[in-house]
Amino acid sequence: MGSEFPTTRMRRLRYNATLREMLAEVRLSRHDLIAPLFVREGAGVQHEIATMPGQFQLSVDTAMETVRRWDGKGVPAVLLFGIPDAKDAVGSEAWNDDAAVQRLCRQIKAELPNVLVITDVCLCEYTEHGHCGTLTDRLDGCKDVDNDITLESLGKTAVSHARSGADIVAPSAMMDGQVGAIRSALDSAGFSPVAILSYAVKFASSMYGPFRDAAESAPTFGDRRTYQMDYRSPSQAIAEARADLDEGADMLMVKPGATYLDLIAAVKRSFDAPLAAYHVSGEYSAIKAAARLGWLDERSAAIEITSAMRRAGADLVITYFAEQLADWLRE
Ligand code: PBG
Ligand code: ZN
Repeated sequence: MGSEFPTTRMRRLRYNATLREMLAEVRLSRHDLIAPLFVREGAGVQHEIATMPGQFQLSVDTAMETVRRWDGKGVPAVLLFGIPDAKDAVGSEAWNDDAAVQRLCRQIKAELPNVLVITDVCLCEYTEHGHCGTLTDRLDGCKDVDNDITLESLGKTAVSHARSGADIVAPSAMMDGQVGAIRSALDSAGFSPVAILSYAVKFASSMYGPFRDAAESAPTFGDRRTYQMDYRSPSQAIAEARADLDEGADMLMVKPGATYLDLIAAVKRSFDAPLAAYHVSGEYSAIKAAARLGWLDERSAAIEITSAMRRAGADLVITYFAEQLADWLRE
């Protein structure tokens, strides 16, 4: 054996602060961060989201000020979500080339071409019923999202984003075949260099509550459990990730991130594609709320939990703490 107390003293590895630093296997870097941003129509909008302190609904002009500031702090990438003025049954504003997301893409690419622009490709912000696609009547009479009709809308949306300059599109609707449909739509429109970051492993989660306030995308009836994954069924994660890679996904995502570290590790072990973890709204707001109450130290909690996602195997972290982390990491 030879690994027993008193011969083995693990504390020797922690005795010296310099050695602790040298032995750190996970090092957070601003280069790994992606900052989500909510953009809506209008001008001069800077509306703080009540359930997400420090996060805002912005218009294109104020969003540009924000992206400039983030770029100045070294945050390399943004993930854009749009909030339209008018919603309809199919979410057609999602593929309007003059909608807020598309205009913001063009402005970022014109002024800050080295900022990596990722767009969320989904329809729940754009449909009047708040579901992630076009509805149909099922055999049992219930309404549900029609998978294959929705694929066409997702393809058109991704092409509109690419035409506006998006570097990467990130489909989050959890429709079967969405990565393949988007890949072929992009390729036929001449956008073969545009990459797909697939929300491959996305669970139906209570942790998205604050986001739905931010994006005004809560479903008006029912929930998303016929398309988003069941958190009790982890083995489906590998099948979802494999299907998306087979359809042409360039990068994968696990979401939520902080509460699904087991699946970050499992996906990383099974596939060699770059992997992102999404530290989602509820996970962010829980830290913010506890910090406001004086129950947690915000900075150490945010750094520790972001490090945990990296330690589990995430190469990239999508986080509402991106700007603060960039500040903290610079100090
Ligand atoms: C859109 C989408 C959601 C999130 C990212 N893309 C909401 C949902 O699926 O209901 C959640 C992100 C967060 O909670 O921070 N489908
Ligand atoms: Zn959606």
